[in-house]
Amino acid sequence: MTQEQWTAVDRYFSDLLVPSDPALDTALQTSVAAGLPPHNVSPNQGKLLLLLAQIQGARSILEIGTLGGYSTIWLARALPSDGRLITLEADPKHAEIARANIAHAGLSHIVDLRLGKALSTLPQIAAEGHGPFDLIFIDADKPSNPEYFAWALKLSRRGSLIIADNVVRNGAVIDPTSNDLSVQGVRRFNELLASEPRVSATAIQTVGSKGYDGFAIAIVI
Ligand code: SAH
Ligand code: DHB
Ligand code: MG
Repeated sequence: MTQEQWTAVDRYFSDLLVPSDPALDTALQTSVAAGLPPHNVSPNQGKLLLLLAQIQGARSILEIGTLGGYSTIWLARALPSDGRLITLEADPKHAEIARANIAHAGLSHIVDLRLGKALSTLPQIAAEGHGPFDLIFIDADKPSNPEYFAWALKLSRRGSLIIADNVVRNGAVIDPTSNDLSVQGVRRFNELLASEPRVSATAIQTVGSKGYDGFAIAIVI
């Protein structure tokens, strides 16, 4: 199988199941126009995040890694009108684009974007008394995944869902000798998922328009 086939099948499903949507389309267009890296989840993956948040009955969501707000919009749409999503972004340019996209999607009243390195903003969020969150989506710098998992646990309750993007990285995840700090961060994160008695987890490999990667999904027990 080739990338071309993965992309074609991804497109087949998104054409069928993910109706084109002005706010989401604009979010992608403005992200590309502003030169943001194409690291947003795909449309089908965004829909998966929405479905998981709906299945969870989420009323509060924490997202680590906003980029242009594409996954933010998907997740925020699962929330009731009095729901809350806090999203963390370190790059001022990304945050500016995301704020505009979130506003254009009519979600500014639900989404609270915090500019700063997540390892600085997470303690502030905890100190302000936010949490426990019903769903936590980890999708920022991969070397920090082990720390983000520790924060996710701190800011969760029994039944919270913790989801992490990019846990496969084109298969590189199975190389214990990798010098790639992102691979090392993801491997350490996966090991923590395995050894942490407070969660029950699995990981699913995905192929599609974003190549070969995967999600880890954990429930706090
Ligand atoms: N969740 C987004 C994609 C996020 S890409 C989507 O699917 O649409 C990862 C983002 O994490 C980038 O915007 C990057 O600037 C941000 N990031 C990197 N290091 C960070 C850090 N230490 N704290 C917060 N955000 C960080
Ligand atoms: C990268 C980060 C992501 O969150 C993603 O979905 C794809 C790639 C990256 O840093 O390379
Ligand atoms: Mg990602």
